[in-house]
Amino acid sequence: MKLRGCIPALVVAPLLAGCNRIQSAFAPFGVEAERTLVLTWIMGVSAAVLLVAVGALGWWAVRAREGSLSISGGMRFIAWAGGVFPAVVLLALLLYALPMMKPLPLAEDALRLRVEGEQFWWRMRYRPETAGAVETANELRLPAGEAVHITLAGNDVIHSFWVPGLAGKMDMIPGHDNELVVHALTPGVYRGVCTEFCGLSHALMAFDVVVMAPAEFEAWLEREARPASADAAGHPGRALFDDYGCAGCHRIRGHTDDAGIGPDLTHFGARRTLAAGTLPMSREAIAGFIRHPEQRKPGVRMPAFPHMPADDALRIADYLQELD
Ligand code: CUA
Repeated sequence: MKLRGCIPALVVAPLLAGCNRIQSAFAPFGVEAERTLVLTWIMGVSAAVLLVAVGALGWWAVRAREGSLSISGGMRFIAWAGGVFPAVVLLALLLYALPMMKPLPLAEDALRLRVEGEQFWWRMRYRPETAGAVETANELRLPAGEAVHITLAGNDVIHSFWVPGLAGKMDMIPGHDNELVVHALTPGVYRGVCTEFCGLSHALMAFDVVVMAPAEFEAWLEREARPASADAAGHPGRALFDDYGCAGCHRIRGHTDDAGIGPDLTHFGARRTLAAGTLPMSREAIAGFIRHPEQRKPGVRMPAFPHMPADDALRIADYLQELD
């Protein structure tokens, strides 16, 4: 495409992105995202002040060369356009912006979480380092109207956590914890992404953030803390899950407790998506991913099962969907 043809697209794309309410820094639904947007506008206004001051000084230089401004008039003009005007506007903006750069306040008993980036998925732990720790994957649930403390880390390479509508972005570094306070305001579903190139499937590393009313969130977390469904324990897909060695990597609390290498699948069936926000939750999608994860996610660490009969994969998918 010729460059001229690209220009309208370059102008329109950010505007359309602004319409995407689930993943847009221009549609904030969290305190940090609101502040980030205000600071962005302040940067824009500051740039405009610079342009006005430079433009005015340029205009003055031209007029001075023509000799149509007196020396004292010129000095006054420089003092106002190049000194007083930018100083007053920028100082006002600075005083307005400084309080917004302070860390968000956090209650003593605030909910704590630990989110770890993995190639290419998200490990989420609620109340880590307590007896009531709950591990889940690829879907973050948060209470609306509460500041939540999230510790971010990488488990293999550097990833980066960003939910444009709520908060972030912040790097997830192996061996170095970063701290982020997320204060979501409005219940809804938002989309988070990895924003640090972390391998072949970097672009396929997303997650849903479901912001819920606090009571609803507590009920969800209590449910998530329970072991996997006892009804699903006798499902024929469970024996296949064990036979194919899935239990060697995936923990299903109450069914297979040993491993914690891959995503925890204890309440897998209750999630909205699979494969880190890239596939809809359906038995066909699960079965397809089990047999050929590398086709969906190049570089994924989960081994492929190309010789697994399609029926077996579907039966394992049925079992996993029973885990709600
Ligand atoms: Cu993880 Cu990019």
